[in-house]
Amino acid sequence: MPDPDSRPPRIPTERQSVLDPPASLAELRKRCPVAPLSYADGHLGWLVTSHELARKVLSDSRFSSRPELRHSAVHEVLGDGQPPEEDVPGMFVGMDPPDHTKYRRLLTGELSVRRMRQLEPKIADTAHELIDRMLAENPSGSADLVTSFAIALPSRVICELLGIPYDRWEGIQPVSEKMLRIDSTADEVKECYRVIFEFLADVVAGKQRKPTDDLLGGLVESAELSAEELTSVAFQLFTAGHETTANMLSLGVYTLLTHPRQLAALREDPAQLDNAVEELLRYLTVIQFGISRGALEDVEMGGEVVRKGQTVTVSLPAANRDPARFTDPDTFDITRQPTGNLAFGFGVHQCVAQQLARSEMRTGYGVLLERLPELRLAVPAADVAMRDGAIVYGVQTLPVRW
Ligand code: HEM
Repeated sequence: MPDPDSRPPRIPTERQSVLDPPASLAELRKRCPVAPLSYADGHLGWLVTSHELARKVLSDSRFSSRPELRHSAVHEVLGDGQPPEEDVPGMFVGMDPPDHTKYRRLLTGELSVRRMRQLEPKIADTAHELIDRMLAENPSGSADLVTSFAIALPSRVICELLGIPYDRWEGIQPVSEKMLRIDSTADEVKECYRVIFEFLADVVAGKQRKPTDDLLGGLVESAELSAEELTSVAFQLFTAGHETTANMLSLGVYTLLTHPRQLAALREDPAQLDNAVEELLRYLTVIQFGISRGALEDVEMGGEVVRKGQTVTVSLPAANRDPARFTDPDTFDITRQPTGNLAFGFGVHQCVAQQLARSEMRTGYGVLLERLPELRLAVPAADVAMRDGAIVYGVQTLPVRW
């Protein structure tokens, strides 16, 4: 049995094939689904790779989300840099129940399936507008889908949802883009966070003066949260909702374009779109690092004992490729029933906006396929640069033709 004191390995980051998680994760899942792990800052913890144990960690109240207990989550891959989540009221991603419950309860109603379905026509209009603009600005019939579409769609949708006028947002868009760039330094990202936080604080103050009919307006009206808490809630929705959806959209298109038979099946029967979205979520699992918890007491699992105070990292990509849960897990198959996949996490912190994300993907892929029947890569697939080592995996750019 491995000894956590003998400097265990860091989390594997190197992919042998661009759409598959590092092969050594599969090896670990088979041999040792709770394996000792070293973090970039030198501290030791555990890496969980099986579907069953990933669910256990994420749903067991003996594992905490408080940042001081899982402080090295961001340090799995990065050597430095920490988002400014410490000590700001309302940062519910880093809370445990019952503190966490208050925010989730307020947000669940605002982000219900019904409300998100109602938002879909607006998302579709936005997707059409972006494609109109991409076609008009690129008469050569070629563009980078990441900047023209995949980043722009979630940005506009979040503004719509939160009730941020788009012209105000456009002033801050370069900051948001910088925050998402893989070559930005940790300090630059931190500065972007600060600027966005200030911008959102100002938006909240405006809504407190003059109520509006949108998600933030609704939260202001409920009078349950302070201005600082409201700003934190807006900030978390804003930052968590951009990079994830943008990368799912662009990497999802890359995946479809490099699996022509699956793409043809989807074009032939668009009713399969819901299922295809679910399978893309499972197969790509873009949040490849950074999901961690701290043990509040000793916990025995997978034949190991996680000691009180230790950090446990859950590999969602490894869990979603677990053959004990999904038949033939490394095959991308839009006809499978991929329910139960962990792309949105599990337990009390499971993605609060997953219905919105599904609506954005369903609409985003749907409109792209409908409007661009000849859509194809503009470069060989092997030349598309990937976001290797980024917490949210994806393509760096996606040159396409139509
Ligand atoms: C395909 C796109 C998305 C993916 C794959 C995704 C994935 C996830 C995952 C795995 C978690 C759990 C984190 C953990 O357990 O530590 C999470 C939480 C969260 N997500 Fe998403 N997400 C997506 C889209 C969005 C969008 C569009 C928004 C906002 C508009 C959003 C807002 C949040 C928030 C606020 C949390 C924290 C919830 C909590 O702590 O209770 N996500 N997401």
